[in-house]
Amino acid sequence: MRIIFATANSGKLREAAEVLGPDFEVVTPLSLGITEDIPETGSTLQENSLQKAQYLFERTGLPCFADDTGLEVDALGGAPGIYSARYAGPGHDHEANMKKLLADLEKLPAKDPEFRRARFRTVVTLILADGTPHFFDGVCEGAIAQAKRGTGGFGYDPVFLPDAYPGRTLAEVSEEEKNAVSHRGRAIRAMAGWLKSI
Ligand code: IMP
Repeated sequence: MRIIFATANSGKLREAAEVLGPDFEVVTPLSLGITEDIPETGSTLQENSLQKAQYLFERTGLPCFADDTGLEVDALGGAPGIYSARYAGPGHDHEANMKKLLADLEKLPAKDPEFRRARFRTVVTLILADGTPHFFDGVCEGAIAQAKRGTGGFGYDPVFLPDAYPGRTLAEVSEEEKNAVSHRGRAIRAMAGWLKSI
């Protein structure tokens, strides 16, 4: 089955293609000539991922899926959450977002050892030919490191210590190791399992 993944990120595309396996041809909007930014104006991860999947479905009528991810930090009341991409303000990059996150945690009194606990959460929306949306969640539990470490991955990976790999940030594990435990890996595997069952 040919299926569109609402992403321009080659790492995410590889990950999805690997998880879905040879029965699926995963293609990007760009490869179909859809070059505009897909709107993302919801107030939850689910609304944003639904909005992206619906946008593509309305334009193509093809099976498609979209993901939306947020980093939730307990000491910050769940922030940055859906604002993860623009935590340091519009137009800021990952470096600025991580710097603000570390600085915000520094400013707070560390109340207990769980102070830096955090998780990545992904919601994937899948729309098949009948237009009905299906939702799949994935969570990766961990903590925010004291400082950036590692060169792999992207986004907040250098400051995220996943419980699954004690002592290493997500930027210090291999792509396979990350995919095995990541929020998006889990959500896409849940979708793949469901697709194979129908
Ligand atoms: P998006 O929903 O994939 O656009 O991600 C929203 C924000 O979370 C962006 O700032 C991403 O860089 C960050 N993010 C998403 N997935 C990951 C990940 O696997 N590791 C680190 N940061 C991520």
